[in-house]
Amino acid sequence: MRMAVAGGTGWVGKLVVAEAEKAGHDVVVIARSRGVDLTTGAGLDEALRGADVVIDVSNIETVNGGVATRFFETVTRTLQDAGKRAGVKHHVLLSIIGVDRVEWGYYQAKLNQEKVALAGAVPATVLRAAQFHEFALQSLTRMGGPVAVVPKMLSQPVAAREVAAELVRLAEGEPRGQAPEIAGPEPLQMADLVRQVAKRHGPRKLVLGVPMPGRAGKAMATGGNLPAGPGIRGTQTFDDWLAELG
Ligand SMILES: NC(=O)c1ccc[n+]([C@@H]2O[C@H](COP(=O)([O-])OP(=O)(O)OC[C@H]3O[C@@H](n4cnc5c(N)ncnc54)[C@H](OP(=O)(O)O)[C@@H]3O)[C@@H](O)[C@H]2O)c1
Repeated sequence: MRMAVAGGTGWVGKLVVAEAEKAGHDVVVIARSRGVDLTTGAGLDEALRGADVVIDVSNIETVNGGVATRFFETVTRTLQDAGKRAGVKHHVLLSIIGVDRVEWGYYQAKLNQEKVALAGAVPATVLRAAQFHEFALQSLTRMGGPVAVVPKMLSQPVAAREVAAELVRLAEGEPRGQAPEIAGPEPLQMADLVRQVAKRHGPRKLVLGVPMPGRAGKAMATGGNLPAGPGIRGTQTFDDWLAELG
């Protein structure tokens, strides 16, 4: 199949590209650094020519809910409209477990993105994933300085590689709306994970687990990001991932 990976240069995107190529698919990467802008649509018709399926793992790094909503809504509408023009048969979107339960601006933007994708002209599949093991490293390195402030959050983290493999597997199949959620093997406290990364891999920092304000903070701290029911479970533990990180 010809698979277009929107955000194929990002943390999970690179792994999606690798898994798709390993499975023998013909892959086209969509990113600004590859000459395609998903907010304006520049270069997109050309990139989607001959594509059977789009896997969207693009992202904007922001804590501003309005900025996130504008980005994800625009990107999804742009991809869906261009996908329809190009004859794409399936739109696969990566989302996050708990977007419907934790009223956090970025999550609300992802929930809205799911709705836009599922209502689009190209039939869609949405995969909600738990935080990646890599999220602990991202949380540690996102800001400079000697302190990392991490939301108090209970998560069941999963290897991004296993999420990437599941996205490719879903892309190979028929559109199915909401797919079963994917999480890792065990529920863990995010601040503990960030501390372990700081200790084992670095950079060394003081890691503070801070309760986020309001209903969203309470939901995050009490399991709003844990899988809601049975679904796909990755097998790589956080400890195994950390050992692999070196
Ligand atoms: N991190 C987690 O734990 C986690 C868990 C579950 C789900 N997710 C979801 O996974 C997705 C990917 O996250 P990530 O952390 O892997 O992303 P990331 O590393 O921030 O990568 C973002 C990708 O999007 C591309 N991009 C950004 N703006 C673009 C634009 N205007 N036009 C075209 N491409 C654009 C970037 O390439 P250029 O910069 O070259 O444009 C890059 O390839 C997100 O939707 C996120 O919500 C993340």
